[in-house]
Parts: sequence; C-alpha cells; structure tokens
Amino acid sequence: MSSEPLLQVRDLGVTFRSGSRTTVAATGVSFDLGAGEVLAVVGESGSGKSVSSLALTGLLPPPPACVVTGSAKLSGVELIGMDEASLSRVRGRRIAYIFQEPGTSLNPVYDIGFQIGEAVRLHRPDKKDVAAAVRRALEDVRIDDPGRVARSYPHELSGGMQQRAMIAMALACRPDVLVADEPTTALDVTIQKEIMDLLARIRAEKRMAILLITHNFGIVASFADHVQVMRNGRIVEHGRTAEVMGSPRDDYTRGLIACIPRLGQRRRRLTTLREELRPR
Ligand SMILES: Nc1ncnc2c1ncn2[C@@H]1O[C@H](COP(=O)(O)OP(=O)(O)OP(=O)(O)O)[C@@H](O)[C@H]1O
Ligand SMILES: [Mg+2]
Repeated sequence: MSSEPLLQVRDLGVTFRSGSRTTVAATGVSFDLGAGEVLAVVGESGSGKSVSSLALTGLLPPPPACVVTGSAKLSGVELIGMDEASLSRVRGRRIAYIFQEPGTSLNPVYDIGFQIGEAVRLHRPDKKDVAAAVRRALEDVRIDDPGRVARSYPHELSGGMQQRAMIAMALACRPDVLVADEPTTALDVTIQKEIMDLLARIRAEKRMAILLITHNFGIVASFADHVQVMRNGRIVEHGRTAEVMGSPRDDYTRGLIACIPRLGQRRRRLTTLREELRPR
C-alpha cells in the first residue's frame, strides 16, 4: 500500500520578473496534504500564500510569473510543467479554488445559474438534472432564494453573495482538494460560521482536503489539522495546529495568536483601551 499523500509539494519556488528586476515570491515551499486533511496557511500580506497555491495548477501569468523550482504531485502525478489541456482537467474537478478576490472567478456576462451549471456539466457528468444540482449548490451555501440568485448576474449581487456563489461553484465540483483563499473574509460572522461548517461537513463526507489560507487564527484553531506560517515567501513554521498555537516560535505567529478574541478577555481589553485614551 502506498503512503503517498494526496498532494505533495516540494521546494516550490516562484519569481516575478519585471524588466531586469526579479522578485522572489515563494521559495523552498514544501508540504503534504492528505485526503480529508485541512492545512491552514497563515502569514502577513505579501508573504506568498496565494502565489504558492496558484502555482500548483499553473494559474499564475507567465510572464511575469515563473515557477523556477520544485514539484507538486497530485496522487503521484506531477503538475508542474504539465501541459495546459491536462491542467485544465485538474482545475475544478481535482483541485478547485475559492479565490481571494470575489470577482475573479465569476464571469460578468453570464448569470450565476449558468456558471454553476457549467461547472456541474463539465465536472459532474453523472448529474443528469443540472438545474437541481445548481439549486442544491446554492442552498448549500445558505442562499435563501436560489432561484433569484441563479438568474442574477454577478454585478447584481453584493460582495458577500458573490463570495457565496463562488464557494457554491467550487463545491459543486466536489473536488479532491479545495484551495480556499480567505474564503469568508467578505462575509459577516454568522455566515462565516455556516460556510466553515459546510466546508467541515463536505470534508468529512467526501474526504475533501482543504488548503485554507486565512488571517483568522480563530478559524485555524477550530478547523485546521496543521498550520504553516509564511514570511517573505518561505515557510517559517509548520506543525500540528495545537502545537504551533501552544508554543509558537515565530513572532508573527505569536502576534496572530494574541489577537484571537477569548471570552472574558474582551471586556478587559476594551477597558484597558478606554483607560489609555482617557486624558490624564
Ligand atoms: N502579478 C504579480 N506581479 C508581480 N508580483 C506579484 C504578483 N502577484 C504577486 N506578486 C508578489 O508576490 C509576493 C507574494 O504575493 P501573494 O499574493 O502570494 O501574497 P499573500 O501572502 O497572498 O498576501 P495577502 O495576504 O495580501 O493576500 C508579493 O511580494 C507580491 O508583491
Ligand atoms: Mg493572498
């Protein structure tokens, strides 16, 4: 029996060239992700979280982007350097993305129902009733009025609704790996919780693996098996979530953990702040 992980990334390196300048966006990025596992990626803005996940399926624009080193194997099959036709079959069905920018994956000229339907037709040919699959996908992300939303164009929806439609589209394909790049940032806290619960349910039912990029350590704590911290394009800390959170080595990790609101501490912190602001 093979113990090979679903996704195995080794020494991934990405640069951006502009004129004679070369920026190293990611370097020496290595991790494993098994079926049904959640790996959280945290790190300050510009640390290479999005770039290293987009590089996996050739989603970075060449030029200026260039994957200069490394390997990314999905079920043992190398993705780096794979031809575009094969990569397009990996995207969506095997590795789906919830992009950081809600506008990125929605096409402005088609209504939401058509776009989710296309994803279903392309990746789930077993689903004969596409309209029902679209409705179900929208209901899954707690959209109360799936009929109306299906007939809407992206610009007619709020940012939060667009985000949910995008999540519905990614999940409708029932991918093996979901890359969720700040999936709930645009959503209010109650919806955030519902979406995270939904991801947890699909993860458990389908053994979907999740690469979860987030700034929210509360979500990391309740959701991720492992966490890796990126800084300046490198992974500076990696481990089981409880270990990293229990004894963080990196300053950034410590700062993030200190920001998690805890019951009973909030009031004290607010009082302290008010006291600091009070004229003496
Ligand atoms: N299209 C691009 N052209 C040039 N440089 C880029 C491009 N996209 C990203 N970079 C650079 O790559 C580095 C990593 O960017 P990346 O988007 O991965 O950061 P991030 O960790 O996802 O940040 P954030 O938390 O803000 O989303 C940054 O230094 C960024 O400036
Ligand atoms: Mg990003």
